[in-house]
Amino acid sequence: MANIVLVGAQWGDEGKGKIIDVLTGTSDVVVRSQGGNNAGHTIVHGRKKFVLRLIPSGILRPNKVCVIGNGVVIDPIALLGEIEELRAQGVKIDGNLLISDCAHLVLPYHRLIDERREQLKGKQKIGTTKRGIGPAYGDKAARVGLRMSDLMQPPVFSAKLQVRVRDNNQILRTFGAKPISFKQVEAAYLEAGVKLRPFVTNTVVYLHRALAAKKKILFEGAQGTFLDLDHGTYPYVTSSNTTAGGACTGSGVPPHRVDEVMGVMKAYTTRVGEGPLPSEDAGITNMLHGMGREFGAVTGRARRCGWFDAVATHFATMVNGIDSLAVTNLDGLDSVEVIKICTAYRLDGKTLDVPPSDHQAFARCEAVYEEMPGWKCSTEKARSFKELPPAARRYLQRIAALTGAKLAVVSVGPHRDQTIHV
Ligand code: IMP
Repeated sequence: MANIVLVGAQWGDEGKGKIIDVLTGTSDVVVRSQGGNNAGHTIVHGRKKFVLRLIPSGILRPNKVCVIGNGVVIDPIALLGEIEELRAQGVKIDGNLLISDCAHLVLPYHRLIDERREQLKGKQKIGTTKRGIGPAYGDKAARVGLRMSDLMQPPVFSAKLQVRVRDNNQILRTFGAKPISFKQVEAAYLEAGVKLRPFVTNTVVYLHRALAAKKKILFEGAQGTFLDLDHGTYPYVTSSNTTAGGACTGSGVPPHRVDEVMGVMKAYTTRVGEGPLPSEDAGITNMLHGMGREFGAVTGRARRCGWFDAVATHFATMVNGIDSLAVTNLDGLDSVEVIKICTAYRLDGKTLDVPPSDHQAFARCEAVYEEMPGWKCSTEKARSFKELPPAARRYLQRIAALTGAKLAVVSVGPHRDQTIHV
């Protein structure tokens, strides 16, 4: 396996964590390059369930180096919590984790502003995870953010923080929220900084040395294509570039060193938070929720569900340059009699084969469906493509053809061995 960028081809929660965990077996370094602890990757090993938010999923295998790149925004307190949780589950962190000194910090005022902005928006709310992600990236773009390198220099950090707390308290007051205490934030963050110090380094240099040593790098995307700040359903998006290009800017690895882009998509569609979802369907939502599926790993929110949307995944193939596909959660459709696939949108009397850029037009799109017979039996025990029922094989081939990339992996359950390499 060469250097692979793994991206979500839908609205996030495509099951990337499990696919990354499988692919990590043949890679040396796993890199997160965007997002923050808004992400949640669930991985099941035997009886143990791990939920990773900031730390790359490669951490669950010994001897893999996991890098949190410069493009990630880090809440140091949340990161330490995650480290402690993993250590308690017997996962080795020391020596296996590197954190970019250029990664920006999420601070308590980011979280409070995120929350307050959402409240003030009322019905227009984005449905964020309230982890402060948008305000943290906002400060980065406005060049007033604090970075890991600042946290490693306490006097520098304290001086910058003091100014930022003063300014953000003004914003919080105008939002009708309580101001925060500089002293409390300073103490908590400096303490976290001491604990994180052994992991902080220039990860760009580390990654280039790894490339020179012919190490195989896996870039672990968080969220999905339609949550991309530029290419998603703006403003109902997250605040980073979730598409393949983000792997390069968020890590310092140049585009020509990427050998393959793999898109991960569910065999159906889900979305958490507000915004357009043309193939949303109450029947499939109720069925999946009834099976106890499709509740968020980070916030526990019930996900909105719909039929597979090939207009969306085809667009994802375009913007990411997807070469190969991993289809997850095939088993979620095991009991469906007739399966629908959204192959086009209808908008104002026209048929569209690409999503409109404007989210208001996107929201007015109606899905045009084709139907395929379901397989009506369990796929959970299939371990090869030919062990899948013929109707399931035809369905997979159809959605791969519509998406425009070759089918490489199929997942039929949460466990590592419930994975079919096609
Ligand atoms: P934020 O990233 O917390 O600002 O949230 C912005 C939008 O992205 C909301 O609709 C969230 O529900 C969505 N979002 C953020 N992270 C994830 C994720 O990991 N999976 C799915 N949706 C996400």
